[in-house]
Amino acid sequence: MRSPGPPVVSVFPHDRAAARALAQRVAAALADNPRLVLGLPTGRTPVRFYHDLAALAEHGHADFSQATTFNLDEFLGLAADHAGSYRSFMDAHLFSRVRIAKERINFLNGAAPDPVAECRRYEAAIAGAGGIDIQILGLGANGHIGFNEPAPELQPRTHRVVLTPETRRANAALFAGDPSAVPAEALSMGMATILQARSIVLLATGRSKAHCIAGALRGPITPQLPASFLQLHHDADLILDAAAASQLTH
Ligand code: GLP
Repeated sequence: MRSPGPPVVSVFPHDRAAARALAQRVAAALADNPRLVLGLPTGRTPVRFYHDLAALAEHGHADFSQATTFNLDEFLGLAADHAGSYRSFMDAHLFSRVRIAKERINFLNGAAPDPVAECRRYEAAIAGAGGIDIQILGLGANGHIGFNEPAPELQPRTHRVVLTPETRRANAALFAGDPSAVPAEALSMGMATILQARSIVLLATGRSKAHCIAGALRGPITPQLPASFLQLHHDADLILDAAAASQLTH
């Protein structure tokens, strides 16, 4: 663990190097603490990271047998086995490739009959697991984390959220490229849920993220740029490629 302080930024020459560095870091954390509780994101950005992490596991360098996971968010109205669900994404990219106990994979149930109760259940499950040791995050092109969209105010706890048209477009690939097929709402960990993790690592790659990265690190803390709240965490790291770091001035 590093000393508490402002977010630490590591810049890698390209996205593959950034993904590899994060996979190695998670493998090392699992070696230090086999009962690690991991918070996990979805999106295009972490695909390479999950591939590398699964490859490390397949070669005996990352042991998930006692680990617990909590994913950040899920679309509302989708059952876990729907092809577009984040659960299906995680099964395809990570869970099917590592030896992890199914009962220690935690997910918001997008098809829960009572979404509010489902959010409460999730908060209790995180607390019951002793909290999240490492929360890995991606970054929406509009600065959202999880599904905490830019807004006049943010929700602290796991909650129901209406997705912006931009976010629905960004998730269209999971729905045969059709933004109108992307659910209009989702369930997401809240900002306090995320900030309560003992450590946070945000992975961002590509030029489309550069503006939000610069604002999140150097700008004011504002609900209009949810990632800016990472400035409040005492152990938050950013792993970037050169393109995502291109608007950072030193
Ligand atoms: C979705 C997820 C976010 C993720 C974002 C980034 O909206 N809810 O948690 O960070 O996608 O997506 P990408 O990595 O594809 O840019």
